[in-house]
Amino acid sequence: MTEQAPKPFLYVVVCAAGIAAGVGRLISAAQERNWEVGVIATPAAMNGFFDTAAVEALTGRRIRSAWRRPGDPRPFPPPDAVVVAPATFNTLNKWAAGLADTLAVATLCETYGMRVPVAVLPCVSDTLTAHPAYQDSLIRLRAMGVRFGEPYAGEPGEDGGRPEFRWERALDLLA
Ligand SMILES: Cc1cc2nc3c(=O)[nH]c(=O)nc-3n(C[C@H](O)[C@H](O)[C@H](O)COP(=O)(O)O)c2cc1C
Repeated sequence: MTEQAPKPFLYVVVCAAGIAAGVGRLISAAQERNWEVGVIATPAAMNGFFDTAAVEALTGRRIRSAWRRPGDPRPFPPPDAVVVAPATFNTLNKWAAGLADTLAVATLCETYGMRVPVAVLPCVSDTLTAHPAYQDSLIRLRAMGVRFGEPYAGEPGEDGGRPEFRWERALDLLA
């Protein structure tokens, strides 16, 4: 019997944006593309933004949101790639500034030194994208090699429906 090579490991970082409720779609699409997935969510995102039990059932792993205790084993292997979807105004600005006050942002800060591909799907309103700090953050993160999907404001259109959030785009950006 031949041994199967381990699958590459993808970190999916989830922030507290309303669209996060659909993150299961990204996880399933990643699994279909042969990724093993571990989810890291911000503490705010864990507070009702998505179905945490469903995500844990889908990945077969506990969601990480807080640091492990000293002496505890590392819950996830090191990442082969990282996706941030949805990415909030708050997390993007902290990441660019190096303010590692959540496990999610600390992990993102570390990816620069790890030299792994990182793809981001921002979900930030037009009013917030106008802030100069946000524009500076995008310039800095792009210069760090971070790959960005198209801007998405999440606001309803004239018909009252929200435009589609292209979850799979994050995976395409890793290619
Ligand atoms: C229902 C709801 C939806 C939100 N949607 C967004 C969003 O789409 N984008 C965003 O940047 N912030 C959004 N926020 C605000 C963030 O949740 C807030 O800034 C939070 O501090 C972000 O934390 P995090 O970046 O650690 O996940 C939303 C808040 C609520 C209550």
